[in-house]
Amino acid sequence: PQKIYILGIESSCDDTSAAILCNGKVLSNVVASQKIHEQYGGVVPELASRAHQQNIVPVIDQAIKQAGITKEDLNAIAFTRGPGLMGSLLVGTSFAKSLALALDIPLIDVNHMQAHILAHFIEEEGYQQPDFPFLAMTISGGHTQIVQVNDHFDMDVIGETIDDAVGEAFDKSAKLLGLPYPGGPLVDKYAQQGNPKAFQFPKPKVGDLNFSFSGLKTAVLYFIQKKVKENPKFIEENLYDICASLQYTIIGILVDKLKKASKQTGIKRIAIGGGVSANSGIRNAMKEGEGKFGWETFIPKFEYTTDNAAMIGIVGYLKYLKGEFTDMSVVAKARIKI
Ligand code: KG4
Ligand code: ZN
Repeated sequence: PQKIYILGIESSCDDTSAAILCNGKVLSNVVASQKIHEQYGGVVPELASRAHQQNIVPVIDQAIKQAGITKEDLNAIAFTRGPGLMGSLLVGTSFAKSLALALDIPLIDVNHMQAHILAHFIEEEGYQQPDFPFLAMTISGGHTQIVQVNDHFDMDVIGETIDDAVGEAFDKSAKLLGLPYPGGPLVDKYAQQGNPKAFQFPKPKVGDLNFSFSGLKTAVLYFIQKKVKENPKFIEENLYDICASLQYTIIGILVDKLKKASKQTGIKRIAIGGGVSANSGIRNAMKEGEGKFGWETFIPKFEYTTDNAAMIGIVGYLKYLKGEFTDMSVVAKARIKI
């Protein structure tokens, strides 16, 4: 059988990434994360786009080298068209267009949110890919969505956040506790040594399958202000319990909506993706759902859940097989629907 080599390029937020896939298998997946944002406690768009410009050539070079191919072997170039930060998207989009033109190979535009979901279809030994239909929950610092996936390119968003993303709920609460950015992984680490029922945080009242996390952030702020006033050492004395309680609340919110979505659609195949799917609480809850509700759950390898170009490459491959190419007039788009 013919070998189809796809170069995937991702630059929607603060990670510059390039990957080479051969017939849906990952040969390389290089990610340059931008440290510069740490000191600001969040992504600064202007700095992100400048760092992409510096990183994009070396990252693509390295991906090609690691894959053991040359750029002349490439059959097509897939890139993230959106959604994301405009300045960041522009870097990947322009580079992909110029390289496709120079190599005279097809160009494929990819929706970043579809890519998070289609990451489950990367050919990986020992990884059982979900059958259709399934529910996909994408949870990260930028996204919180539940999507009904009927086919590779037939998806409906059935729930999403009306304000902050779930990763922001972790990171902003962590900041209030004095933890460095991004605080999600630390909250998770400390949570495992604390009592999840030590403190109660309110769950938002949002209808349907939608999410809201901005109220929780405010609740955590008031809670901490009040407690620290009573006892200046409150945070250090209770850090594990606060993290455990916080995580318990956040994961509870996610799982409640997943349960509702599963009931409403009758679909028991549940897949997650995005950086927050590394969280031990959500992983335990997914396992529990298998026994309790008969779920079949899917969690890809960690490097395919955070922002990465392998997921862009797999969408590129799937579109290549359908002959779905884009032309040179394509432009980056900060907001696009799935
Ligand atoms: O997918 P990702 O790397 O980047 C985007 O936001 O697109 O996700 C990063 C987010 C951050 O908010 C980070 O705090 C969160 O994922 N995160 C976690 C964990 N690992 C990463 N949140 C909770 N528990 C974790 N173990
Ligand atoms: Zn993402």
